[in-house]
Amino acid sequence: MEYNGLFSFVILQVMTLASCQFQCPSSSGFYPDTVYCDKYYECRGGKPIQRLCEDGYVFNVISPLYSRCDYPFNVECRNREERQPAQPSPYCPRRFGLFQDPNPGNCSYFWQCVNGRATSHRCQDGLAFHPRKGNCHWSHTVPGCEQKLEVHQGFKCPQKTPTALQVFAIAPRYPHPNDCNKFLICLYGRIPRIMACPRGKVYNTVNMQCDKPENVPECLLYYKERAPGSKQDNAVR
Ligand SMILES: *[C@@H]1O[C@H](CO)[C@@H](O)[C@H](O)[C@H]1NC(C)=O
Repeated sequence: MEYNGLFSFVILQVMTLASCQFQCPSSSGFYPDTVYCDKYYECRGGKPIQRLCEDGYVFNVISPLYSRCDYPFNVECRNREERQPAQPSPYCPRRFGLFQDPNPGNCSYFWQCVNGRATSHRCQDGLAFHPRKGNCHWSHTVPGCEQKLEVHQGFKCPQKTPTALQVFAIAPRYPHPNDCNKFLICLYGRIPRIMACPRGKVYNTVNMQCDKPENVPECLLYYKERAPGSKQDNAVR
């Protein structure tokens, strides 16, 4: 009993010292807390004033001259990974930040939270929101999204590459369903990516190359129809 009491007393003392007695490294400036990534101290006349970033931001140690609360993906919280308790709301695990859609596998959607209010955003086709990097990346590089192979309008890489396409080795090409300038490749036969022919060219499904529109009857008018002032914006194959 006695021993336990003494022990917790000592622990309590140490904790109190650690959290309150921040030593200002210089008489003025902004300095990170040693335990909490979202806590920092403003030193004035050598005395620390404890400050806290808004829920979702962490303190970015750039220079003692600046107090800057930033997105976690811009900051290394090494050895000070604690954070204040989260204040979640629908789609927002914390009040501020960019977050994955809570629906597992809904990889291309993400939410921007400002003061706990969420707005939905979507990555381009073939990309998935990377929660640790805070932006959109090829879906096969995003944990949990490797299997999200749909790139465009339901296009999936076929299980087996057709013999005629095996000349492309690791990147067989497929026509794009409705855009003459584009085609799809299946990297290693399984990871789809959208590619575009150089401007002025269209994808020729016969020789499987980017070609002049004159050589591809179904795409002959592709650029003419897209010229400024034209009514039709999307040439359909
Ligand atoms: C993915 O998230 C978006 C935005 O919330 C939503 O509109 C869409 O229905 C979701 N899709 C799936 C498959 O959950």
